[in-house]
Amino acid sequence: MKFETLVRPTVRDIKEYVPGKSIEEIASKYHIDPEKIIKLGSNENPLGPSRLAVAAIKEQIGKVHLYPQSDALELRNAIGAYTGYPAGNIVVSGNGMDGIFDTMMRLFMTPGAESVIPIPTFSYYEIATLANGGKPVFVERDPDFNIELEKIIDKMNENTKMIFLCSPNNPSGNSIPEKDVRKILGSVNALVFIDEAYVEFADSGLSKLVKEYDNLIIGRTFSKAFGLAGMRMGYAIVPEWIAREFLKVMTPFSMDVLSTVGGIAALKDEKYLDKSINMVKNGREQLLKDLGKLCKVYPSDANFILIDVSPGNAKDICESLLEKGIIVRDCTSFRGAGQSLIRITVGTKEQNESVISAFHEIL
Ligand SMILES: Cc1ncc(COP(=O)(O)O)c(C=O)c1O
Repeated sequence: MKFETLVRPTVRDIKEYVPGKSIEEIASKYHIDPEKIIKLGSNENPLGPSRLAVAAIKEQIGKVHLYPQSDALELRNAIGAYTGYPAGNIVVSGNGMDGIFDTMMRLFMTPGAESVIPIPTFSYYEIATLANGGKPVFVERDPDFNIELEKIIDKMNENTKMIFLCSPNNPSGNSIPEKDVRKILGSVNALVFIDEAYVEFADSGLSKLVKEYDNLIIGRTFSKAFGLAGMRMGYAIVPEWIAREFLKVMTPFSMDVLSTVGGIAALKDEKYLDKSINMVKNGREQLLKDLGKLCKVYPSDANFILIDVSPGNAKDICESLLEKGIIVRDCTSFRGAGQSLIRITVGTKEQNESVISAFHEIL
């Protein structure tokens, strides 16, 4: 017997997730000192972690022989204080927001059920849907990457379980207006997952709507503004009925003890958060202004910007940047993104300057 045939048919169709390139990979391929590599391909926080978070993690390290709280109540209370919701509206995942998508899909997907996904966007929605037996249904955005309400509502049918909206959207950086979200929430018989991984860098978010709509899930992460991508902490703000069901199917003890204390300390480190946000807002302006002289730059509410290098080709330009030790994200692997888009994480002032001068040489 060919045991591969035992794999779920929808899983066989999955194209592997393409992550941003790592420092180690580029250092060994191009023989570059890893210390000199500028990594702006995965929207991490270039400030490093909050010192308060590091201190809390160090203090806890001797206690890793014990299981954490299975329902992560202490962390959920701290997230509740940050978001303005009680712990009964908060769920967490020790596998980043990716873990939240996965558990939600496990909770809601049934064979033949559909997720509606406006593209281009973060590719894991598609993988989480397929991996849990569902079917992704794609809808193109307009040329400025805004979602088109009629097109989304047209795709709805009795099999639609989930609509994935990303605000600010990865890779385009634009947010979805509240009135559009309200229109969708009020007119569909499905759940709406709004991915707010980058919300801290925008002027406002949509989490207040969870108080009004029983079909809304707001996904968040500690990986971006809080600088804890390596800890893999994600959470969601949800109606209480979803939190109760989620707690039944999430893997027990999913949030480890070091992440728990690191996350709680990071939530209290207002200075670090302000510094991250200011750095991104200033850097975004710098990149927009300078790269805007060379190519089309899309306005962004996130910690990255998207540029269109046409008639050039994103793959070739990213390769030339890699040779200079600069990692950015070639968006060719994003479904529906075409061949000419590059996403650049906003770095420190010096990193941004290096990126700008590299682009001046290459373009
Ligand atoms: C839009 C979006 N959602 C979710 C994630 C995953 O976040 P996490 O690191 O919490 O898994 C990312 C990661 O880059 C992202 O860009």
